[in-house]
Amino acid sequence: MPSRAKRLEKIPPYLFAEIARIKAEMRARGEDIIDLGIGDPDQPTPAPIVTAMQQAVTHPATHRYDESARGWQTFLDAAARWLRREFSVEVDPKSEILEVIGSKEGLAHLIWAYCDPGDAVIVPDPGYPVYRIQADLCDATVYDARLKEENGFLPVLEDIPVEIAKKAKLFFTCYPGNPTGAVAPKEFYEDAVRFCRDYDILLVGDLAYAMVTYDGYRCASPLQVEGAKEHVIEFHSLSKPFNMTGWRIGFACGGADALAPLSRLKDNIDSKQFAAIAETAAWALDHGENRATLELYQRRRDVLVRGLKEAGWDVPTPRATFYVWARVPTSETSAEFARRLLGEAKVLVIPGNGYGPGGEGYVRMSLTVSGDVAGERLEEAARRIAAVGAVARA
Ligand SMILES: Cc1ncc(COP(=O)(O)O)c(C=O)c1O
Repeated sequence: MPSRAKRLEKIPPYLFAEIARIKAEMRARGEDIIDLGIGDPDQPTPAPIVTAMQQAVTHPATHRYDESARGWQTFLDAAARWLRREFSVEVDPKSEILEVIGSKEGLAHLIWAYCDPGDAVIVPDPGYPVYRIQADLCDATVYDARLKEENGFLPVLEDIPVEIAKKAKLFFTCYPGNPTGAVAPKEFYEDAVRFCRDYDILLVGDLAYAMVTYDGYRCASPLQVEGAKEHVIEFHSLSKPFNMTGWRIGFACGGADALAPLSRLKDNIDSKQFAAIAETAAWALDHGENRATLELYQRRRDVLVRGLKEAGWDVPTPRATFYVWARVPTSETSAEFARRLLGEAKVLVIPGNGYGPGGEGYVRMSLTVSGDVAGERLEEAARRIAAVGAVARA
């Protein structure tokens, strides 16, 4: 057996794989675990979208290679309409949108399309691990832009060293944020676009959670900034807004020149998503809605936050995403606290340091809890945490 590539040594153990193993062992012992771990919509894809797929798959044109330059045109056209409707952003569906096989794939390959060894990549810390790991694999220099609670979990641009900014090619932001649940105002994007223009960096806005918002909140996007197109790529995904994580479809949008390297790389890696999925995704963007799921998340959020506050743990109420990002209420590390919650309360939370060193001292709790009908599992989780005295312990 030949040895694997040395670069694979740089990949830390996949956080969720480790947690999945422990969870499986406990469940095999018959323990009733409440899993606030992985963020994956527990509700099914809305039925009208499934019906649209049943129709799309009967069209022979969808059965062949999609040989288009940037993706299934029906999908790109629908994405442009959706951007106009949701964000008042205008893009040309022929040149300024690129279909991706889920935003994870697009984000990962973007780094390969742009970075040579020694280039710098600015990533949010804590942040979605894909940016950091792919930049590492490319031998790029990873700069952790620390997201602090006192700054609303926004990076402080003035803190980024000039020598990093000069070497940087990509600057990742993620709002609404995984894992922090934080949101960014348009003024932040104005500053970030100016910063990127000054240093010739591409601002990469990961908007996977753009539609998972509560209490009437609507999120801003980097492309809303006047003249931003040449300096911005946004990634959007159908996974979270339409409970379509398994379908693997999303899109990147921005200036045609900014998208070209990603398009060129992908032309030589994949042959696009199954066109029936792209056709269905177009239908979802034009006609789909998922209010019931959002209302369920909001109910769960309120039940969990209220229950934990009653237990003496002052956790914040996120305005977006399905994550509650909370400070560890004891003197334990994130991992110690998470391990103890799992062992004593049988409640699984993710230790914040899994999202980068800046996540130490926090845990992430996801509202996508399988088997929960109306918040009762979240209520039970808070009750168990209170019952074992997990919050009070020093
Ligand atoms: C911040 C963030 N970006 C991107 C993704 C990837 O989403 P998908 O590949 O399903 O579009 C996720 C998934 O969890 C995420 O949390």
